[in-house]
Amino acid sequence: MSTFTLAEQVEAAVEQALHDIAAATTSAQLQQAKADHNGPSSPLAKLNASLKELAPEFRKEAGAMIGGGRKRVGQALSERTEIVAEQEARAKLEAERIDVTALPQRRQQGARHPLTMLQDEMSDVFVGMGWEIAEGPQVEHEWFNFDALNVDPDHPARSESDTFYVEPEGSHLVLRTQTSPVQIRSLLTRDLPVYIVSPGRVFRTDDIDATHLPVFTQIEGLAIDRDLTMAHLRGTLEHLARAMFGADARIRLRNNHFPFTEPSAEMDVWHPGMRGGPRWVEWGGCGMVNPNVLRAAGVDPEEYQGFAFGMGIERSLQFRYQLSDMRDMIEGDVRFSQQFGMVI
Ligand code: DAH
Repeated sequence: MSTFTLAEQVEAAVEQALHDIAAATTSAQLQQAKADHNGPSSPLAKLNASLKELAPEFRKEAGAMIGGGRKRVGQALSERTEIVAEQEARAKLEAERIDVTALPQRRQQGARHPLTMLQDEMSDVFVGMGWEIAEGPQVEHEWFNFDALNVDPDHPARSESDTFYVEPEGSHLVLRTQTSPVQIRSLLTRDLPVYIVSPGRVFRTDDIDATHLPVFTQIEGLAIDRDLTMAHLRGTLEHLARAMFGADARIRLRNNHFPFTEPSAEMDVWHPGMRGGPRWVEWGGCGMVNPNVLRAAGVDPEEYQGFAFGMGIERSLQFRYQLSDMRDMIEGDVRFSQQFGMVI
């Protein structure tokens, strides 16, 4: 045996063990202390193994001494294990703690665009009078977009400088330049009388500026019945104007020309909230449906007649809310939509 007595060696091993165990603050450190002081290669285990070198008469006392040391170490380990486990559990709970009273973080959600809302609002005025909503394709046959609407083959609107033609050449397909072709489709597929509105997207080869978009929205109206007159047209549009702009809104019809109506008129609207004070603003086109259009759609103009109208939704939004630049409507900046009270 070394120069130290066994008792001193045991005491030193236990002291070191207790020190390391007390210093361990994580279960990993504690594992290490356990391996160092309680494992098969720990000083106390080595002392224990050396017992067999002792003379038999000393073994019992020495064994009790070492056993006592190992017991203290074992006890310290189990006490410390409990404490460290509890601390770690508490730290984990703290880290995962949730404040259920905190304000939730709102994710931005999609919302409807002001143009879509206005389109629906205008449509609803007509649905409220018993009219129906009709639809037509955006890629349209030339016959529906022009011929059936009594547009002359040489009419300037048909030129490539105004109309997007769909390839290949001779397909006779265009991106519809107006919602008016839905008039023809409705008359061909519905029973008379017909009272429809048709909101939708239209396309023209216009350059983008504050008052023009190459892709924009119109709403078309068509009423075909027996004995409809221009008075019905006027009354209908006046009702729309008041529904949209308030009881003080007024409309006026000015002489104009469209191939699909005869007589034709330009409709202006006046309302007190107009930008720069009340004034007349051009709102859309209208007229009594041309007998040629009725004939193209298989309707006998001697028996049935009616009126039609069409206006731009972007334009309506523009002067309803005094917006100076139409480009704001298509740029997709949510701040634009939020101005209309939209919750995004
Ligand atoms: N389609 C015409 C345009 O895009 C607007 C229009 C005018 C529609 C007169 C009509 C109408 O139904 O009767 O400019």
